[in-house]
Amino acid sequence: MERCLQRNAPWNIAVRTGSLNAMTSTNRPAAESGTCGGVCESQRGAATTAPRGALQRPAAMTRNLDVSGLVDSDGGLLDRAIFTDEELYRQEMRRIFAPSWLFLAHTDQFHKPGDFFTTYMGEDPVIVTLDKNRKIRAYLNSCRHRGARVCRADFGATRNFTCTYHGWAYDLEGKLISVPKQDGYPESFDVKDWGLVEVPHIETYHGLIFGTWNPQPVTLRESLGDMAWYMDAMLDHDPDGTVVVGGVHKWVLDGNWKLTAEQFATDWYHVNMSHASALMVLSPTGKGPKDEIIHRTGRQYVDPNGHGAGFPVHPRNRFDSQTVHEWMDYTALRERLGQARVEGPMTTGHATVFPNFSYLPVNGSIRIWHPKGPDKMEVWAWTIVDKSMPDEVREAQRLYNLRTFGPSGIFEQDDGENWSEVQAISRGFITNGVALNYQMGIGSEREDGRHPGKTSELYSDAAGRAFYARWRELMNTPAWHEEKR
Ligand code: FES
Ligand code: FE
Repeated sequence: MERCLQRNAPWNIAVRTGSLNAMTSTNRPAAESGTCGGVCESQRGAATTAPRGALQRPAAMTRNLDVSGLVDSDGGLLDRAIFTDEELYRQEMRRIFAPSWLFLAHTDQFHKPGDFFTTYMGEDPVIVTLDKNRKIRAYLNSCRHRGARVCRADFGATRNFTCTYHGWAYDLEGKLISVPKQDGYPESFDVKDWGLVEVPHIETYHGLIFGTWNPQPVTLRESLGDMAWYMDAMLDHDPDGTVVVGGVHKWVLDGNWKLTAEQFATDWYHVNMSHASALMVLSPTGKGPKDEIIHRTGRQYVDPNGHGAGFPVHPRNRFDSQTVHEWMDYTALRERLGQARVEGPMTTGHATVFPNFSYLPVNGSIRIWHPKGPDKMEVWAWTIVDKSMPDEVREAQRLYNLRTFGPSGIFEQDDGENWSEVQAISRGFITNGVALNYQMGIGSEREDGRHPGKTSELYSDAAGRAFYARWRELMNTPAWHEEKR
């Protein structure tokens, strides 16, 4: 089995020396694979027209590792280095996060020009706002002068973004509109050159706002593919869509961002064991759920772009707030979404949109796993509900989600313990070299005639294997900012 995983040669030599620093400093530069060795100088800052003057980055600063030997998606094996290695993490920022569509916010967070929400794309801070024409825009939240954030609030409403370091101010269209003591700058200084760096593409899908730094991306809808059908089981109950209840919960977890994204794509397997006590609490008898619930049947959607969703297909497979359950009009939902969706992805399922957006349909929980280094993440979680839900039902949903998958929720805490546990020991030298098993359900993916795309069994690692296959593909592909023009 081990033979299927191969760390690249410079990496292995370094491992034998036992020095992580040496290991990561001997990697071959990406220039060998026909790229310009990371960010081409002509492309740096391609999201803006800003001048670079005589600045030139040495190619060695952005060299890339060939990760082919770290993920064996056919054999179901994974090298733990992908959760711990600093250089791989930096490569993820360049090749996973810079080119992908990333979740930013929900449209219900913006109602009038100047409403804003600050978040991250990978580790890049961004402001999402409505401009004067009510267009959703997103900017890098970093002043063009010395780089401070121009907006330090989590959310709010404003007429412009004024940096509190020296006072440069930008309007809602990202233009630099005020520079204190501008007469001290040379004549060549033009405010037009120093606007905020804008995220070039923003698209929405049923209320979810996504952005990408890729100047020429495939459309968001195209990148979602068949996954959209599964997402609609949460987002499209109601012709008026969804709204956000309450604020955004944020908490820190000791764990690599992929551990959580992967689990939401693929892992129902842990439920009966990890959540045994929570299931006891929720069962009407207090003795745990009935056998037919424990031994669930269900399917797992496996997407070629790395997305994934798992869901039971059993009429009793809803652990939800009684109030919400009673309010739902299942006949109307069957008409709108079809039987297969109401009895499948609309049940107590889980899902991930590659790379780091996940959701739980029954809870109305949407969340993003913000990477904060290879061994840390911030979880940001929203509760969304159907717009037509009356206030008392919204409140029941909010409380139910808080109780189960809030930061101190009875399920969320179990999950957090697992992720932190896996991460905590993965840096051990011997531990790090021992491969992980993703072999459940190998070869089981098929078209099942009921759900779009390919599905596997509910208890399977198939979507996990696809998630890492996509990760490997992107990590080995030069991103838009590396292409020569
Ligand atoms: Fe923003 Fe100086 S860093 S004005
Ligand atoms: Fe869980």
